[in-house]
Amino acid sequence: MHEIPRDGVPDSTLSFARDGYLFITKRCTRLGTDLFRSRLMLQSTVCMRGEELAGLFYDNERFERAGVAPSRLQETLFGRGGVQGLDGNPHRCRKGMFLSLMSAERIAELAELSAAQWHRSAANWERRSQVVLFDEACESLCRAVCAWTGIPLVESEVRSRTDDFVAMIDAGAAIGPRHWCGRWARNRAERWIEGLVEDVRHHRLTVDEDCALNAISWHRDLSGELLDKRTAAVELINVVRPTVAVAWYIMFAAMALHQHPQCRERLLAAEAPYLDYFVEEVRRFYPFFPVVAARTRREFESKGYRFPKGERVLLDLYGTNHDPRLWDEPHTFMPERFRQWKRSPFSFIPQGGGEYLDGHRCPGEWITVELMKVAVVFISTSIRYSVPQQDLRMSLSRIPAMPPSRFVIGNVQI
Ligand code: HEM
Repeated sequence: MHEIPRDGVPDSTLSFARDGYLFITKRCTRLGTDLFRSRLMLQSTVCMRGEELAGLFYDNERFERAGVAPSRLQETLFGRGGVQGLDGNPHRCRKGMFLSLMSAERIAELAELSAAQWHRSAANWERRSQVVLFDEACESLCRAVCAWTGIPLVESEVRSRTDDFVAMIDAGAAIGPRHWCGRWARNRAERWIEGLVEDVRHHRLTVDEDCALNAISWHRDLSGELLDKRTAAVELINVVRPTVAVAWYIMFAAMALHQHPQCRERLLAAEAPYLDYFVEEVRRFYPFFPVVAARTRREFESKGYRFPKGERVLLDLYGTNHDPRLWDEPHTFMPERFRQWKRSPFSFIPQGGGEYLDGHRCPGEWITVELMKVAVVFISTSIRYSVPQQDLRMSLSRIPAMPPSRFVIGNVQI
């Protein structure tokens, strides 16, 4: 039995901030290992990467999520009391509610709403010399997902509500003003959505039966109780916020089309599975969430190492998606690689791995892929545009990654 190797410094919190997405990979490479122990934010933490250890990380007998998310993430990205921090049967019950919203028909409806929204926005772009694609994508997705979930969105509030969802995503790993903007944004959004949940419960607002606002307002947990209004708001925001987050991938897809013009040609040639491969490669290649966190339930031994009870463990999503043992030339953008991909639940994990219902894998993966496809088809076939000179370099220490220009396009023609 081996001791888990240590990274050899008293505290690595600042190094994590500096190395960002590469923090775990750099240390694994230096130590010749797939896991090591570090000290992060005053806590001993085991960091691990790769397909085999991802399989271990998603073993519910050994790992749990309760109390793992640091308070600064709960106050911004996640909210308190949401599905991310549940385990066992309470998790299964809540997760079932999310998965019930994800039927093929409902996802197709969201895709249609989003396509219509893109066309509506573009009509307006023709009158402007330039537009920031990321900002447009956020607003367009926010309008579509609010309509889909049953959330009434007042026209004069569209921009500020959209900005609040973006701020929550942008704040999780940030310090200073970016972090505080995310906290204030969450408080505003929770108050707003709590009011809507109450309106539905008191029949002051009538919504479609199968929309998320209705399902979440009337969801009962294992004890048979309705969710308290704050938790209901947190869960509804857990649908809207990450749908707005798909704007990051849409911006990355547009960057990929710009930087790899041969991909655009293949998309235009309408080679059927190529669109699927392209979207998957965007999710693999570009950085979004760097890690996910869990805690050991009990002491155990695995892969020749002893894991103590109560230890925090981080799984490297970005590093696993760029692991050269799983992906040839991992830092090259190559959609065709997905032709050969073996569909392991633990090798391609931009939105987590393992099981949907019994694990914490993202229930929004199908939505993400569909909304990306709608946007890629729209960008590559419905409009013509130029890409002005701009700074598209992305720092891997900024989480989530973002090019300074947020991808500007100009001279848009429909
Ligand atoms: C969980 C990424 C879109 C809802 C997660 C996790 C990741 C992730 C990394 C954590 C997995 C884990 O803990 O093991 C993303 C990315 C997205 C996206 C990168 C697109 C940009 C969506 C969408 C929705 C959604 C569109 C809903 C409509 C959720 C929920 C969870 C989750 C509710 C918590 C699941 C649980 O704890 O059981 N996502 N997601 N996500 N995602 Fe997504």
